[in-house]
Order: sequence, then C-alpha cells, then structure tokens
Amino acid sequence: MNETFLKACRGEKTDYTPIWMMRQAGRYLPEYQKVRSGRSFLELCKSPELCVEVTIQPLDRFGMDAAILFSDILIPMEAMGLELEFHEGRGPIFPRTVRDRAALDRLIVPDPDETMGFVMETIRLLRRELKVPLIGFAGAPFTCATYLIEGGSSKVFWETKKMMFTAPDLFHGLMDKITRCTTAYLLAQAKAGAQALQLFDSWAGILAPSDFTTFALPYVQRIIADLQPTGLPIIYFANNGATLLDYSVQSGADVIGLDWRINIGDAIRRVGDKAVQGNIDPFALLLPEDQLRARIKQLLDDARDARGHIFNLGHGIHQFTPPEQARIAVDAVHEYSRR
Ligand code: CP3
Repeated sequence: MNETFLKACRGEKTDYTPIWMMRQAGRYLPEYQKVRSGRSFLELCKSPELCVEVTIQPLDRFGMDAAILFSDILIPMEAMGLELEFHEGRGPIFPRTVRDRAALDRLIVPDPDETMGFVMETIRLLRRELKVPLIGFAGAPFTCATYLIEGGSSKVFWETKKMMFTAPDLFHGLMDKITRCTTAYLLAQAKAGAQALQLFDSWAGILAPSDFTTFALPYVQRIIADLQPTGLPIIYFANNGATLLDYSVQSGADVIGLDWRINIGDAIRRVGDKAVQGNIDPFALLLPEDQLRARIKQLLDDARDARGHIFNLGHGIHQFTPPEQARIAVDAVHEYSRR
C-alpha cells in the first residue's frame, strides 16, 4: 500500500511529492470513451463495476499516487429529489429548479446508503483493488446550490445572486438542506472506505469575500466539523479562490486546494500549517515536453517550504488533452521531487 498521498495530507515527511489530477478519469482517455460509449454518463455513474474500471484506468496507465472515486457532484442533488439530465455538449440540466419555498420544501435529505448505494458499493469494490489511497468527494454547498437554482451551468449566476440578495432566508434554507445531505453523504463514503474527502467549490470564486463568508463558508465549516470524527484528511478546493484564501484556511480543512492563478509559494506563506494541493494550469499540459518539465520543476521548488504538498492541476484535466502529456507530468513530479 502506497501511503505517500495520505502522509502529505497530514504534513508528514514523504520520500517524494505525490501527484493525482482532478478529473484524472474521464474523456481524455480513449479507454474511458470505450466504456462510456453506448451508455449515458448517469448510467455509468450508477454501475459500480464500471465505475471501478474507469477509476483505475489512469492509475494503470500513469501511476498516480491517489485514486478519486468516479462519480459526480450532482449525484446527491438528484437524490434530493430533483430530476437530473446530462446533455451531450451542454453539461448538466435540472429541468425543475429550486427558486421558491415550495420547491425547497419538496427537496428531501436522503439516506445516502438507500439512495446512493451504488456509490458506496463502488467504494467498497475499489478498496479491494487499489494499492493507493481512495479519495471520496462531494460538491461544496454553494457550488451545488448554483446548479439547483440556475438549472444547470451558468456564466453570470443571475438567479443565484438574485436569491442571495433578495431572498436570503430562502437561500440559507437551501444551503442548510444541501449541507445536511452532503454531510450524511460524506460520512457514508467514509464508512464505506474512502480514505480522504475532497469538497469541490467550483464556483466559490464568483463571490465577494464578505459574501463568501456569509453565504458559503459557514456551511463548509459545518460539514468539515461534522466529519472530524472520521479522522480522514479533508481537502477544500475553491476554484478561482486566491482572493478567498485567508477565509478558505478557516474552513477547517487539512489540505487547501489551489487553482493556478496564484503562485504556490505565496499561497504556502498564507496557509500556515496546512498542506496544499495544486496547482499547475491544466492547459500547461500542452507545453512541449522540456518546457512542461521545467515548469513542474519550478513549481516543486516554489512549494519546497510547504508543510505537505500534493501535486495536482489547478482544475480538472481538459477533455482534449493528449493523454501522454499526463504521463510526462506524473514522471517529472516523481523524478524531480525524490528526496
Ligand atoms: O476527478 C475525477 O476523475 C472523478 C470524477 C468527477 C467527475 N465530475 C466526472 C465527470 C468529479 C470529481 C467531478 C466533479 C464535478 N462535476 C464538478 C466539480 C469539479 C469541477 O470540475 O469544477 C462539477 C462542477 C461537476 C458538474 C459536471 N459534471 C459538469 C459541469 C459536467 C459537464 C462537463 C463537460 O465538460 O461537459 C459533468 C460531467 C462529467 N463529470 C464528466 C465526467 C467524466 C463528463 C461526462 C461524459 O460525458 O462522459
């Protein structure tokens, strides 16, 4: 069992810097496309044996130091009672949104083992196969709320901010319900065998700092506090979060995920005794090999004073990335960081 990733999360000394990549399982891999062809994304998410297969694909090919459960942050939102569709090229759609009290009251806080047993089954099966730690995950409440309120992905977040500023009680009511669902879901993942847990806050970066601390952070803090009894390392990743970093540190997470818009050395000086995860621009994987390797070397050097560093991209790997570029990154991190 390779525990390098877990040691880095806890700030312990490691023989080298561990690496995994957000969205490491997915469309950039031809072997994923093959499993995905002939079935919908949601069907795939609900088939434990296939989820195990695609979770392991990047590990077999490149040798990352951690696995991330193959699923989606919107699975528990569907379990709250909202129909979810994925449209080719358009991303997720919730045909019925949550924009008023009646819609909020209809949402349920599901029993995760009853409604999302396929996720727990995937975790149990993976633990029998894996030689590296398994990361479980959920969306952070604010990010999940944007999908329920907007009915899908958004660029301006008009409906979300309208609710925040004109119906704050409704907004907080929705955040509370999502928080209760998310806590139960992550506790169930821990019980099934997840060895670390990551909260993805993909849209936190659209908030002013004072709105982040009013409308988003308290719910992240609540989830992380309620996960403490599991003893698992918790990673909090706020995309576009450099301006929120000092507040993200107050989330209670053990590891702060960083996007690529901040120098990792500057971030390390601000996060105190926490470990960091990140943060190369996913598009830097397109660089010619020598330049990519040089950039990775520089990043490792910038991160030398970290209490723990888990190498990652600053966001998910893009679907058109040539897969072999991921190999260059994994090998370069292992080679340059060997102590
Ligand atoms: O990282 C991994 O390898 C684990 C699997 C994973 C997926 N989604 C698989 C997926 C994880 C951790 C996620 C998280 C997720 N899902 C986030 C947070 C992270 C981020 O990227 O900011 C968000 C916002 C979602 C919601 C979501 N799911 C969107 C917006 C989309 C469409 C994306 C697109 O480019 O079309 C998805 C679909 C999705 N989730 C795919 C995969 C592999 C593509 C599905 C396919 O067509 O095969």
